[in-house]
Amino acid sequence: MARVTNGVWEKHFPDGNLIPITIPMTTSLFLLIPLLFLFHFHFHMAEPAKGQGQGQWHLLQQNIGIVGMHMQLLNNDRVIILDRTDFGFSNLTLPEGRCRNNPREMVVKRDCTAHSIEYDVAANTFRALFVQTNVWCSSGSVSPDGKLVQTGGFNDGDRSVRTFNPCPTCDWIEFDAGLAARRWYATNHILPDGRQIIIGGRRQFNYEFYPKTQAKNTYSLPFLVQTNDPGVENNLYPFVFLNVDANLFIFANNRAILFDYSKNAVVRTYPQIPGGDPRCYPSTGSAVLLPLRNLRQPNVEAEVLICGGAPKGAFQNAKAGKFSGALNTCARIKITDPSPEWVMETMPGARVMSDMVILPNGDVLLINGASLGTAGWEFGRDPVLSPFIYKPNNRVGSRFEIQNPSDIPRMYHSSALVLRDGRVLVGGSNPHIYYNFTNVLFPTELRLEAFSPRYLEPAFSNVRPTIVSPASQTRLKYAQTLKVRVQVTATLVRDSVSVTMLAPPFTTHSFSMNQRLLVLEPHNVSELGESTYEIVVTAPASAVLAPPGFYLLFVVHQQIPSHGIWIQIGVNRFLDKNLSTVSYEQIKFNLWGV
Ligand SMILES: *[C@@H]1O[C@H](CO)[C@@H](O)[C@H](O)[C@H]1NC(C)=O
Ligand SMILES: *[C@@H]1O[C@H](CO)[C@@H](O)[C@H](O)[C@H]1NC(C)=O
Ligand SMILES: *[C@@H]1O[C@H](CO)[C@@H](O)[C@H](O)[C@H]1NC(C)=O
Ligand SMILES: *[C@@H]1O[C@H](CO)[C@@H](O)[C@H](O)[C@H]1NC(C)=O
Repeated sequence: MARVTNGVWEKHFPDGNLIPITIPMTTSLFLLIPLLFLFHFHFHMAEPAKGQGQGQWHLLQQNIGIVGMHMQLLNNDRVIILDRTDFGFSNLTLPEGRCRNNPREMVVKRDCTAHSIEYDVAANTFRALFVQTNVWCSSGSVSPDGKLVQTGGFNDGDRSVRTFNPCPTCDWIEFDAGLAARRWYATNHILPDGRQIIIGGRRQFNYEFYPKTQAKNTYSLPFLVQTNDPGVENNLYPFVFLNVDANLFIFANNRAILFDYSKNAVVRTYPQIPGGDPRCYPSTGSAVLLPLRNLRQPNVEAEVLICGGAPKGAFQNAKAGKFSGALNTCARIKITDPSPEWVMETMPGARVMSDMVILPNGDVLLINGASLGTAGWEFGRDPVLSPFIYKPNNRVGSRFEIQNPSDIPRMYHSSALVLRDGRVLVGGSNPHIYYNFTNVLFPTELRLEAFSPRYLEPAFSNVRPTIVSPASQTRLKYAQTLKVRVQVTATLVRDSVSVTMLAPPFTTHSFSMNQRLLVLEPHNVSELGESTYEIVVTAPASAVLAPPGFYLLFVVHQQIPSHGIWIQIGVNRFLDKNLSTVSYEQIKFNLWGV
C-alpha cells in the first residue's frame, strides 16, 4: 500500500492512504456523487436565509492555482500561501519559463508549476513563488524582523528551513538540512528571545530551536510518546501556546502539560479533557489561547479553548469507510489556575477540521471543516458551511452565534486567517493525493474567499473607530505608554473602548501557530474635539506577554474594531536597528534590559 519508501515513512501513513483513490470510478459512484451534492444543497437550504448580523461571504479569486493549505499574513499585507510539491502539476505556471528539476521529487521530476504564491490583499492579485522542497504538512513562524521562517515538510523538504522576506519581489530562500530532525506535522512557536521552538512531528518525540546557536540538537519530549495512540497518532500538530509564566502549554491528543523548554522539564500536568476523545491530528479539532487581558495586573490569567475533533476510533472507522460524527464540544481551561479544570461547552453543531480564528474584537470564529469523519485523504464528509462565533465573555449557554454559510466546502487542507481590515481570508481544501478537479467528492478547491464578520457591516460605520495615529509600522518598546488617536462619528462610549494587538499566525491543518490577542485597557480616553479621541494605553511589559515581532493593532469600540495598523514590538536596544543584522545572542542578552 505504501507509496513512499524513503526508508522511514513506509509503514503507517495516514495522510498517504491510497485506498480511496484506487476505488474504481464505477457508474454507481458517478451517480452517487451528484446525489451527495444534492443532499448537501437541501441540507443547507434549510438553514436561515442569509441575513444581516450573521456575516457575509465574498469570492475573491476564482482560481489562485494552488491549494490554500498553509497561510501566513506578513506585515506588508501580503499573504504567503503554500501547498505541496507532490500533488503533481498545479494550476499556476511558474513565470519566466522556470522549472524545478528534482530527481528526489516523488510525483513529477520536472515541474514548471508553482506550489506557493504571494497574495496581495489590497490589490486582490497574486504572484507565483518558487519553492524548491516539499512543504507538505510543514510549519512556520514569523521572526521578530518580520521574516517568515518556514520549516520542515516531507521527503526532500523534511529538514528544510525556508525564509521569506516581506518584499514585493522577494522569493523563497531555502536551507537544506537547516533542522536537526525531520519535521512533518510539527508545531512552531515564537519564543520571548526571538527564536522559534519546533515541537514534534511524525515519529519525532522531541523538539528543537531555530535559529541554532550551538551544535544542532534535539531535546526529548516523552509527552509525545505518551500521547501517541498506536496506529493512529492523534497527537500531531500539537496545540502549543506561550503561557504568561514563560512556560509552554502543550496539548496533544486529549491532555496537556506545562513545559519549561529551557530546562526540558514538565512543570505541571493538566487533567484529561472529560470524555477523553482526541482533539489533535488526524482527529483534528482546533485551539486558541483566549485573549489576554489586564496585562498590568501582577497575575495575568490565561485560558485555552479547544473545540471539535473526532471521537476515539473515528480514524479507523474512516479507513473502513464509516464516517463517525465529529465532536460537538469545546473544553475551556484556565491554565494559570492552581487547580485547573476543563469546563465543557456544547457547540451548535459538530465540527472536525475547523479553524479557530481570533477576531480583532476578541471573539473566536470557528470556520471550515466537516461534521463527519477525520483529517486524512478522503476521510471527511458532510462539510459544515456555517461558521460559529464564540463570545468568550458571554455567559455559558449564550456564547455561540451561527453565521451565514458559504457555498464552498472547506475540507481537509483548508485554512483561514484575519486580515488587517478585519475580514477573514479563507482558502484551500483538497482531500485528494493529487490535484483532482473532476470526478471526485470535494474537488480540489482553488477559490479564495473572504468572510466579513458582522462588525464590518455599514450599519456600524459611525461606531467604528478610524486610527489617525500612530502611523502603521510604528515601533513600540515594552511597557511604553502609547497614545492612539482615533476618529469616531458617534458619541464615544468610553468604558467600551480597548486597544488590541493580534499576532498574525502561521495557519495549517486547523491550527494557527502563534495566534495571540492582547487586550490593552485604556488608562485614559480624552476628547480632542471634532470626533477625535486620544486613548492612552501601556504596551505589554515583556516579551513573555508579547514575543517580539509584528502585531496588528486595532481600536475596538462597542465590539466594533477599526482597521488595524502594523506595529513592531521588540527588543528595546535594537528597535532602531535592522534586526537582520543583529545576532540572536545579542537579542537574547539584551531582551530583558531597558
Ligand atoms: C487550470 O485548470 C483549467 C481547468 O481544469 C485548465 O483548463 C488549465 O489549463 C489549467 N491551467 C494550468 C496552468 O494548469
Ligand atoms: C486524480 O489525479 C491524478 C493525477 O492527475 C489521476 O491520476 C487520478 O486518476 C485522479 N483521480 C480521480 C479519481 O480522478
Ligand atoms: C486624561 O487625559 C487628559 C488629556 O490629556 C488630561 O487632561 C487628563 O488629566 C487625563 N486624565 C487622567 C485621569 O489621567
Ligand atoms: C537589513 O539587513 C539585511 C542584511 O544585511 C539586508 O539584506 C536588508 O536589505 C536590510 N534591510 C533594511 C530595511 O535596511
